[in-house]
Parts: sequence; C-alpha cells; structure tokens
Amino acid sequence: MYPDFPERVLFSEEEITLRVRDMAAAIHADFRNEPGPLAVVSILKGGFVFLADLIRAVGLDITVDFMAISSYRESRPRSSGVRIVKDLSESIFDRNVLVVEDIIDTGLTLSYILRNLKERSPRRLKVCTLLNRAGSRIAPLPIDYCGFEVGDEFLVGYGLDYLQKWRNLRFICTLTERGGERAGISG
Ligand code: IMP
Ligand code: MG
Repeated sequence: MYPDFPERVLFSEEEITLRVRDMAAAIHADFRNEPGPLAVVSILKGGFVFLADLIRAVGLDITVDFMAISSYRESRPRSSGVRIVKDLSESIFDRNVLVVEDIIDTGLTLSYILRNLKERSPRRLKVCTLLNRAGSRIAPLPIDYCGFEVGDEFLVGYGLDYLQKWRNLRFICTLTERGGERAGISG
C-alpha cells in the first residue's frame, strides 16, 4: 500500500486504536456530568487524524473547532514567535474545552495557545495529546490526557508530517534519510 514506506513502525494501527479508545474513555468519564457540549479544539494540521478517531470514540455531545498557527520552526527555530493564522469560529466563553494535539515537543506552540484560550474565560480547559516528547520541553505544560511518551526521533504518520508528507500512514514511524529524500528533500 505504501511502496516508499519510510522506516521503523513505532506504534502500529492496532496499538493506536487501543490507546485512543482508552483516552476517549477517560475523557468520557471526566466530562459526562458536565453541562453543555464539550468544545473540542484542534490545532491544524497535525492533529486531524487523531481528532477524527478520538471524537468518534468519546461518546459525548461535542462541537469541533480549529485553530491554525504559523510555525516558528519554519522561520525562527526555537523562538516563541507563534502567530494565529486561523482563529476559532465559535466562542469558548464558559465552555468546557479540550485541546487536542498530535505531539507536544518543546511545548512553545501549546503554551502560547493555552494562554490565548484562557483569556477567553472557558469553564474548564484540558489538554489531550497523542504523543509527548517530554525530553524536549522548554515551556512546562499541564497534560491531562497523553497517548504515548516518545523520544528524540522524528516521527511521521497518523497525521504527523515531514514537509507535508506521510500524514496518511495508518501507523506512526520514524523517518530515515531515504524517507526524507522521497518526501522531496535532497542533500
Ligand atoms: P512544539 O511547539 O515544539 O511543542 O511543537 C509541536 C508541533 O511541532 C507539533 O504539533 C507538530 O506539528 C510538530 N512536531 C514536533 N515533533 C514532530 C515530529 O516528530 N514529527 C512531526 N511533527 C512534529
Ligand atoms: Mg501540531
């Protein structure tokens, strides 16, 4: 199915499915007695595959909204130069909010987003991430639901990309130089 398969599978489709189900059950238990639909907020683009599976497993009334930010990696590496390029379309005032991320690395992106969302006075604000690279953290963050802890290796698949490629893999894997070449990188 994927002829230029990039490398070692770290989390298989089955492992991801089971973990997402567990995370969804924990979210269901925490929010089932709360008033109003849960406002699920996703940061484009990496989280969209995880989001799609998670929301269908949660089994609660929810709404979904998206934010997009400019990546500091593209221009000023490791700076906190984060900018909102697409804002939420609905108010989160007095709402229960769950921010869903693909991976938290330095934490700079999410700490900026959480500060921004808190100013809008949500009722509760929780964080759910599929992957956590705690060893790279610069900005400390509270994580309420975490799928897997990961190390230094760069990961692709299940929404995660390298230069916009590999998001459609059903599993999460590390990327070799060959995979990088095939994603359009040379040298
Ligand atoms: P942070 O601000 O350093 O926490 O950046 C988090 C964002 O960087 C994630 O939402 C991803 O979009 C991206 N990212 C970090 N590590 C990886 C990786 O291993 N593969 C793909 N994207 C990554
Ligand atoms: Mg992301």
